[in-house]
Amino acid sequence: MKIIIQNKKETDIACDVLILPLLEGEGITLYKDINRSLNNMPDDIMSSGEFNGKHNEVCLIHTGGKIKPDRLLLIGLGKRSEITLEKLRQAGGKASSYLSGLKIKEIALSVKTIASSQLTPVAFVEGALLANYNFNRYKKEENHKEIKKITILTNEKLDKQIKWTEATVSAAHFARNLVNTPSNDMTPSALVKAARSLKNVYVKVIEKNEAERLGMGAYLSVAKGSNEPPKFIVITYKGKNAAPVVLVGKAITFDSGGISIKPSDGMEKMKYDMAGGAAVLGVIKAASEMEMPVHIIGILPAAENLPGGKAFKPGDVVKTMSGKTIEIISTDAEGRLAVADAMEYAKRFKPSAIIDIATLTGACSIAFGNEAIAMMGNDEALMKTMMDASLETYERVWQMPLFDEYKEYLKSDIADLKNVGGRPGGLITAGYFLKEFAGDTPWIHLDIAGTAWTDKDKPYIPKGATGIGVRLLLSFLRTVLLS
Ligand code: BES
Ligand code: ZN
Ligand code: ZN
Repeated sequence: MKIIIQNKKETDIACDVLILPLLEGEGITLYKDINRSLNNMPDDIMSSGEFNGKHNEVCLIHTGGKIKPDRLLLIGLGKRSEITLEKLRQAGGKASSYLSGLKIKEIALSVKTIASSQLTPVAFVEGALLANYNFNRYKKEENHKEIKKITILTNEKLDKQIKWTEATVSAAHFARNLVNTPSNDMTPSALVKAARSLKNVYVKVIEKNEAERLGMGAYLSVAKGSNEPPKFIVITYKGKNAAPVVLVGKAITFDSGGISIKPSDGMEKMKYDMAGGAAVLGVIKAASEMEMPVHIIGILPAAENLPGGKAFKPGDVVKTMSGKTIEIISTDAEGRLAVADAMEYAKRFKPSAIIDIATLTGACSIAFGNEAIAMMGNDEALMKTMMDASLETYERVWQMPLFDEYKEYLKSDIADLKNVGGRPGGLITAGYFLKEFAGDTPWIHLDIAGTAWTDKDKPYIPKGATGIGVRLLLSFLRTVLLS
């Protein structure tokens, strides 16, 4: 969606639909001229109770040529006292998906009401852009429902905010595309291609032989059952001469569970087990597009987890790059194996921080449903920054404890660690397992198993891949830069 800023009167803008956001119970007072031109129809609609301005309520009105816009869309923002950036984002999403459903192409947005609430209209636009997404790669009849153009009617200088929003949303869409693509097309090699499509970055791929030489026995064990060659992808974006922030993204392109095979119900969704890796690619794409002054290294230990004659097995002991050995209890706890070797490799860069993002445990969605990312780590200040970014973006994180007692859960009789700590505390013991590989490096673990996919449409997230993590990590990096 193209964004244009124009300081024009609402009645003078030629477009398919002009969006008028309205506050609950405040009528149409800011738009007396429109109301007059339409013989008080908006007023009548409101006094009849058909539209009250309740949050996300919509009402479409044809103007019959009495003013320049063909139609008006009234969209409710809820009560003035309860308005938030997230409510604006959601209302933008609701308006845009409602209009794209009607195959509307060109819209305009009046910002008078939003301006009167002291919040930025860009949040509304962000929601509209995020909602304006369709995954139709595999549909014969191309279904171009997307809105093409939005004109924001304002004299405010919004250029910087708009640029940020366009880059972050386009990165989220990029990540959603990767995740929605099924695993027959989204292989580890396809992820390499996606990484190489990014501009102004340096991509290094560690092939199986080199990974063997480096001693990445945990990561490599995951790929043994598959014919798809593993690809350990390292992407560098250097916008500043400084110690890098390393972003590790779990990139299991399909997780069948391996020999500890998963139940077949819902297994098709396990193509989203590379959502962490997709988020990392998205973040680097946006950072390089915006030329953010930050040094980021993204690591995607990509592999496919399948059963087979060569597959790794429960009971096997594998050796990580760090030298620690791991007894495999379940081949379905493969993410932590790949991420552990990636974290060890990350330390080579002497990073200022390691952030890993991974669809790591089913226990995460048991704990939080679809509503929060589980956060764990060894650096409270860093986690506070992540929490702030989460409040700003509404990609919400919630901290879980890494008590020393959890170490006991992961004790193996024959190796340094086992890869499963049992069902109780399963979300946390997965995080604790990774902590063993962070060492002294400031580190945050983000479990996105509950949030990377949605089975139902949300106001600005159509069902399927959510692109979670992209906006969160970009906002986090921006805060880190400012401090
Ligand atoms: N990829 C899964 C976690 C997952 C489950 C993500 C559901 C998204 C939705 C992970 O590799 C896994 O299978 N974890 C196991 C760990 C268990 C064997 C300790 C799990 O959560 O069941
Ligand atoms: Zn698994
Ligand atoms: Zn997995």
